[in-house]
Amino acid sequence: MTDEMAGKVVLVSGGGSGIGRASALLLARAGAAVALADLSAAAAEATAGDITAAGGRALALAGDVSNEADVARFVTATVAKFGKLDGAFNNAGISPAAVGCAATPITEWREDAFARVIAVNLTGVFLAMKHEIAALARAGGGAIVNTASVAGLVGLRGSSAYVASKHGVIGLTRTAALECAPLGIRVNAVCPGYIDTPMVAPHMPTRGEDILRAVPFARLGTPEEIAELVLWLLSDRASFVTGAAYVADGGYSAA
Ligand SMILES: NC(=O)c1ccc[n+]([C@@H]2O[C@H](COP(=O)([O-])OP(=O)(O)OC[C@H]3O[C@@H](n4cnc5c(N)ncnc54)[C@H](O)[C@@H]3O)[C@@H](O)[C@H]2O)c1
Repeated sequence: MTDEMAGKVVLVSGGGSGIGRASALLLARAGAAVALADLSAAAAEATAGDITAAGGRALALAGDVSNEADVARFVTATVAKFGKLDGAFNNAGISPAAVGCAATPITEWREDAFARVIAVNLTGVFLAMKHEIAALARAGGGAIVNTASVAGLVGLRGSSAYVASKHGVIGLTRTAALECAPLGIRVNAVCPGYIDTPMVAPHMPTRGEDILRAVPFARLGTPEEIAELVLWLLSDRASFVTGAAYVADGGYSAA
């Protein structure tokens, strides 16, 4: 265990799986107390259990990032348990497949499915920052990292709602960075490429060849590789970095 995040309290959404889980584990190894918010109580509790079993401090919270009352509770419960909030990783998200619209052209997207992707991936980040900023300011400043995607930077055929939501996350991140600079709060986004998580793994048997052909490294990234970037952005080592969107995609968007 390092001590880079010693004494810090961080809230991680989507902490029950994939990128959120790997980031929570790394933040805890670096000394942070970590609150895990996830739609799946069991998944949040599993990550929290792994952190406490390794000697860290963790809190599992169940709820929906698109529901303002749940998001407000994530923040108040974290502060009630650990005394303050120093950082947040607003990372929970869903893919088009989660709403039955994988590889669906715009002409065929259902409106309710489009709205759900926006509600979770974009409104969820807005609600999180709405409630986190005051708590971070009370702690004297801090850092926020929002999960966008390479889909926040380029278009992807068949993924309109997802692409729109992730472009929105980058705009929201930049605006929050401007508003929060006087409060000593840094706000950045990460833009992962294709990462080996339960969101992507099920598509590999059918779409794997196409995906890997588009990645110069010819492999999926690991959740741990994104976690390293998240840890750095949340740590004081990134003290002059705000309003940025960092790509980690094995070269996908360089083409
Ligand atoms: N895997 C990739 O290739 C990839 C690439 C770019 C961006 N991303 C983004 O990274 C983030 C994490 O994705 P992942 O690949 O780790 O996915 P994942 O499916 O492994 O994990 C997502 C977690 O978020 C939780 N979640 C989903 N909807 C929620 C809601 N409404 N409220 C609370 N929690 C909710 C899920 O229960 C799950 O634990 C997402 O925002 C995703 O869009 C993923």
